[in-house]
Amino acid sequence: MKKKVLATIMAAAMSLTMLVGCGSEGGGDATAPETDAGGEATAEAGDAGEAPAADGDVITVGFAQVGHESDWRTASTTSVKAALSNENGIDLQFVDCDNDSAAQLEAVRNFIEQDVDYIVIDPIVSTGWDTVLTEADDAGIPVIVIDRTIDDSDKYVSWVGSEFTNEGLAAGAWLKAYAEAKGIKELNILEITGTTGSSAEIGRTKGFHQYIDSEGWNLLDSQTGDFTQEGGQTVMESYCKSYAGKFNVVICQNDNEAFGAIDAMKAAGVSYGVDGDVIVISFDACTAGLQKVLDKEINADFQCNPLQGPDCLKIIQALQGGQTVEKQTFMEEPWFVSEDILKDISYKNNSGKDVTEPLIVVDAAKVDEAY
Ligand code: AHR
Repeated sequence: MKKKVLATIMAAAMSLTMLVGCGSEGGGDATAPETDAGGEATAEAGDAGEAPAADGDVITVGFAQVGHESDWRTASTTSVKAALSNENGIDLQFVDCDNDSAAQLEAVRNFIEQDVDYIVIDPIVSTGWDTVLTEADDAGIPVIVIDRTIDDSDKYVSWVGSEFTNEGLAAGAWLKAYAEAKGIKELNILEITGTTGSSAEIGRTKGFHQYIDSEGWNLLDSQTGDFTQEGGQTVMESYCKSYAGKFNVVICQNDNEAFGAIDAMKAAGVSYGVDGDVIVISFDACTAGLQKVLDKEINADFQCNPLQGPDCLKIIQALQGGQTVEKQTFMEEPWFVSEDILKDISYKNNSGKDVTEPLIVVDAAKVDEAY
């Protein structure tokens, strides 16, 4: 009953202007350009007396995680588990959905059935959510979305994650400047995309393809590697056979795909990286990814920040305290490169804003600091 009151108040507040922020430890920015995730609406909790577990009981949280497909994902799980801990008064029920959308919907329904206090979702795909989020809303359970976006429903209280289209635009802007600096006239590109239908894949593809189109680059092929090392390797093995001697760029939509692609190029005798014939671009900037940038095997790596656990905790604590929370919070995401030949890149981001971004040349300290 208490949660039902809370949900009613939150629903009523959905269209109000945000009042209280909950900044991101990774440098989140609520004023960053909007993604397709939704508008600037505000979610508001009821007063402290009506919030779940406001009487000092343990707060129960169900977390439907995407899976365990990448180093990034491991860092995300570790971050959420560390923040939503017993020490912080939370009983976390964690479900690894193994990249299976049906399993993820079922996990959320089980959380509703169990009447948890909050549900955290990292959505595998961006659509198909409205029915189950309506069920959570009807049950009075606030839903917090992290990392990837939900694009067909606004029935969640808060989202914190990445501006994926900006990540793709970043890769395109960097490649344009890098090719000019190196005097490379023709770009023949192979693309290995992430999980089809995930907002990470949709945004990175959209952003990078804007440059393919505007610069007239040649996209030879694009296939999914499902954000896994095995997927990246399998796709690249087939590319090495089909496009032998015809490509000079491979863009992988995460580090693990890049590791697999690199293994495939090595096996096929293709030279790559700073001293090779093929420019390698990646996303995530996890520890092993930045090590490959330092080793000059990956030319550029665009960070996707997985450390959303502290933000989740702040959102839950704010709701518990009857405060309003921001509907969306963007992580800050630096750009990492192997060579010290370009200081910064200017580009127009997804909200049409002209931005100049510094390029960070990776050293051992940067690798140590990574996740
Ligand atoms: O949603 C974030 C993406 O998912 C990361 O780029 C990737 O590594 C992960 O699997």
